[in-house]
Amino acid sequence: MKHYRPSSGRGKAGMSREIGAEIMRDVTIHDDGMSHFGGISACVTGPMGCGKTTFLLQLAQSVGSLTNGKSKENYTASTPLMPETVIWRGRQLDYWNTLTPNNWCKSFPQTPLKRQVCVHVFENDDEKLRFFEDRIPSREVVFDGNNLGYLTYSTASDLYSNLIKGGINVVYEPTVYYLQTDIVEELVKRTLYDLRLKRLKKETKKKKKEEDADADPNISLMHEGRDVQAPSGIFWYELLEELVKRKPQREYVSIFIDEAHQVIPMTPPGEFWHLLAWFGNSMIDFRRKNISIFFSTHDTKHLDYRVTERILYYFWMPGSRTYPRVSMLDPPITRIIDKGEVIPELSNRKWGYSQFDAIPHQPPLIRVEGMPAST
Ligand SMILES: Nc1ncnc2c1ncn2[C@@H]1O[C@H](COP(=O)(O)OP(=O)(O)O)[C@@H](O)[C@H]1O
Ligand SMILES: [Mg+2]
Repeated sequence: MKHYRPSSGRGKAGMSREIGAEIMRDVTIHDDGMSHFGGISACVTGPMGCGKTTFLLQLAQSVGSLTNGKSKENYTASTPLMPETVIWRGRQLDYWNTLTPNNWCKSFPQTPLKRQVCVHVFENDDEKLRFFEDRIPSREVVFDGNNLGYLTYSTASDLYSNLIKGGINVVYEPTVYYLQTDIVEELVKRTLYDLRLKRLKKETKKKKKEEDADADPNISLMHEGRDVQAPSGIFWYELLEELVKRKPQREYVSIFIDEAHQVIPMTPPGEFWHLLAWFGNSMIDFRRKNISIFFSTHDTKHLDYRVTERILYYFWMPGSRTYPRVSMLDPPITRIIDKGEVIPELSNRKWGYSQFDAIPHQPPLIRVEGMPAST
């Protein structure tokens, strides 16, 4: 049964602040995935200009984890929190400079934590990418190593080793990316094999040929022994796999992917459709491994359904579209909220009302030269 009826006339007053606050707590505070809830997944949805990036930036500053095996159900305002390691996907036009200690304190002087910010760039792009603040006259970003660091990486594994623990790591994926053969094998084989086997079994049934059911698992893969040039966004699958494999259980990581359709598109090309199946499957491991993931998108139908169906929490912004597959809300509900208001939902279970502020001293937009405009 749906909890909201547009005709009820209750409007915003009928939306629960308590449930809204509870969902905000559950999304930003994480406990251990073995004994308690673990990492979460969330998606902020709404049209351009509705405040998605502003909201994500504030979530990125507020994520924290509980120590000593405590559960978030007993959390109070005085419970100590550990800052999590944040990974923020860097885009060509971005606002990550908002997060540096100097800039954040100008806007929110009461923030208890000052998180170091570090930009990570692929070594082959080191000379190629240049960072500017979009002001007049435009000014090149200064990496002073203190307020704002800069590091290069050669592989996803190298990047993992370079991550600033408890800091904000802005990661620029390689502009030209080759998926390594062994990773292709590991990630694709299982999925392709399953699919191939399924199809073979179907055909077998049809033809009544028993021998086809034992398909050879060494099916030929798309790469034929070479590294494969892949859409740059696929680098994230590799990085997430690295995290699942290497990250110790007691370390908490939150990943932020703004404009997530660039990384998990609804219609991925060719073989990458299969890789996305893997991405959806490994989201189950994220929870247990204390990895949280936050997406934003204009419309959930722009994201692959195998991922959206596994997202636990949705944040509906003004004018966003809800869909029955992922939400218990009727679409007109998002028309009655205004900028700075959001409807948090535990997908198809409960929903409420919450608010967030604009960033009072928003620094100028970051513009990166040398990377494709679509990222
Ligand atoms: N809570 C808010 N109250 C008032 N203005 C806001 C609020 N959140 C964001 N804005 C403003 O709205 C504009 C668009 O915000 P942005 O976060 O970039 O949206 P989106 O990422 O959805 O395109 C910005 O100018 C921002 O300052
Ligand atoms: Mg945005």
